Amino acid sequence: MNVLVTGGAGYIGSHICAQLCACGHTPVILDDFSNAKPDIPARLQQLTGQRPVVYRGDVRDAALLDHVFAAAEIGAVIHTAGKKAVGESVTDPQLYYENNVHGLLALTKAMAVHGVFTLVFSSSATVYSETNPVPYREGNAVLAGTSPYGRTKLIAEWILKDLAAADARWRVALLRYFNPIGADPSGLIGDDPAGVPNNLMPYICQVAAGVRPELTVFGNDYPTADGTCERDYIHVSDLAAGHIQALEYLAAHAGVLEVNLGTGQPVSVLGLIETFIKATGQPVPYRIGPRRAGDIPAYYAAVEKAKTVLGFEAACSVEQMCCDAWRFAKNSYGGI
Ligand code: WQD
Repeated sequence: MNVLVTGGAGYIGSHICAQLCACGHTPVILDDFSNAKPDIPARLQQLTGQRPVVYRGDVRDAALLDHVFAAAEIGAVIHTAGKKAVGESVTDPQLYYENNVHGLLALTKAMAVHGVFTLVFSSSATVYSETNPVPYREGNAVLAGTSPYGRTKLIAEWILKDLAAADARWRVALLRYFNPIGADPSGLIGDDPAGVPNNLMPYICQVAAGVRPELTVFGNDYPTADGTCERDYIHVSDLAAGHIQALEYLAAHAGVLEVNLGTGQPVSVLGLIETFIKATGQPVPYRIGPRRAGDIPAYYAAVEKAKTVLGFEAACSVEQMCCDAWRFAKNSYGGI
């Protein structure tokens, strides 16, 4: 099947493309390359032996979408294109609503016009209200969005639920990502954000590679075991595999599925740094700084639904995530 992957040159999208190829599907990439390196299609070719068709442009561009759907026999869409930095969404909410909400509306409109009704959507653990007990569980959890970013994802979920309620042809998987880290074991693709990294793992990698002098741990006075925030880190390759399983599920089920993709294991900021140092042998100088606005002390996924409904289970350890992230970083930054 030809699968349109919006954001297919990005961190998560590129890993999904690699796994689509491994499963015999053909990824078709739509990406504006605003947060992706131009050599990703060549790297995917090196990794998979298959050079993906790439359309460069914005997912809100209706004419471009029309062209893509008319040119390729698209059987399903995986929508990962979007803005994803929580902090930036607080300072520039307009950018987030325009990209993430308008982008989804343009895409689903084009899909319906071209008779494509199968969609796997990159949602987020940040759609859950922080008032929910951990682990966050699908079903009757309170959904509120913990930031403008999280609210764009929640609004997108509502839009997709309303579309599916109005037209029984829709088959939608809302995949609520926890914290994807790591990289393909080949070291060819990984997380290489433009500018100063917002997220913890790429920051750790850049400090370990000597690109930045030290890491700041944002707060050690949270009500957690070591005082630093706890997250559910999941290997990006496990996460990508979840998309293939979601596509398989949607082939047999109409309607909307909401499901977490995480490991169910909370890991603190200091815990991740220590594991990285132990697993890679690289020093990571850090200092404790003030809290970052908008951070929540601790959350992690309930994983039972993903296992029961999709047969999904995250396989990689945190050590593996660190080693794979470091292999990619070494290739990208030279390393020590
Ligand atoms: C993790 C922890 C920071 C950088 C992410 C994504 C978001 C969404 C949810 C899916 C926090 C601390 C970080 C640093 C630090 N994912 N930290 N020093 O905030 O959980 O959000 O997951 O939708 O898109 O961004 O992830 O990696 O930014 O932070 O101490 O330099 O590391 O305070 O406790 P976060 P993160």
